[in-house]
Amino acid sequence: MRLKGKIAVITGAATGIGAATAKLFAKEGAKIIIGDVNEVDALKTVEEIKKAGGEAFFCKTDVSKWEDCKNLIDFAVKTYGRVDILHNNAGIGPVGDAESTSVDLWNKVLAVNLSSVFYCSKAVIPVMKNQGGGVIVNTASNWGFVAQPGWEAYHASKGGVVMLTKAMAIDYAKYNIRINALCPGYVDTPLLRKAVAASADPEKEWEDMGKLASPLEMAYGALFLASDESSHAVGTCLILDNGETARGGMVKDHLPAKGENPFKKS
Ligand SMILES: NC(=O)c1ccc[n+]([C@@H]2O[C@H](COP(=O)([O-])OP(=O)(O)OC[C@H]3O[C@@H](n4cnc5c(N)ncnc54)[C@H](O)[C@@H]3O)[C@@H](O)[C@H]2O)c1
Repeated sequence: MRLKGKIAVITGAATGIGAATAKLFAKEGAKIIIGDVNEVDALKTVEEIKKAGGEAFFCKTDVSKWEDCKNLIDFAVKTYGRVDILHNNAGIGPVGDAESTSVDLWNKVLAVNLSSVFYCSKAVIPVMKNQGGGVIVNTASNWGFVAQPGWEAYHASKGGVVMLTKAMAIDYAKYNIRINALCPGYVDTPLLRKAVAASADPEKEWEDMGKLASPLEMAYGALFLASDESSHAVGTCLILDNGETARGGMVKDHLPAKGENPFKKS
């Protein structure tokens, strides 16, 4: 077992990547505390873990609120006396360019996707310092590195998670707290399906994405970063995206036209 006896707090584990990660971490011996707004599905994850012989609790948490994040970490400490792993994974993915994104939506995306990482980390770092170390894994995105048209707030939030990860990693490595980011590409989850459904041309969008990852393929990346196997990883961004970033992004037809093509076959 790769996480035997570890205490792991995971946000956004009601569905998708977080749910798969919670189940995988439990299978590898960790005791799980889930923080999520979606009580119904989070409790399903808890039940599945218990049925498989694991241990899990749910603590209702809106990660966009500092008080809720502090309460989640306090709950974990009250329950188990320590937190070995914090996986900041909760997120939302609404589409919108600068004009169509309302100020309220902008603030919400930044709060759920970025401030949450700061809040939960801020709450857990003193606990990890006291106990002599720990691991934080932040779910960013390959879209923290390359941009697609029509996702301004999401890109800003994920770019923020990438840099917050690096900044905290170098501040807290000396306390034996390793902080890294997992950067998924397209993963077949409710978040992705909802985003595609809201796009201008869902059918084309779905085709353009090519092969989608399963949530479990991402969970294995989170497992590596959470386990001692990644002991030399500090401030690393593990990009698992089927080569999208290596290609410099997916869609190119949004760029301005470049005039006559001298290579055009007449
Ligand atoms: N699916 C993808 O293609 C993809 C790609 C790159 C990054 N990601 C990131 O992966 C993470 C997980 O997303 P997913 O794709 O599994 O989607 P998902 O919708 O299945 O999971 C998101 C989880 O976050 C929870 N959540 C949402 N708002 C919350 C809040 N305010 N407080 C607490 N919990 C909240 C949801 O209830 C859900 O459990 C997100 O950070 C997302 O940005 C996803």
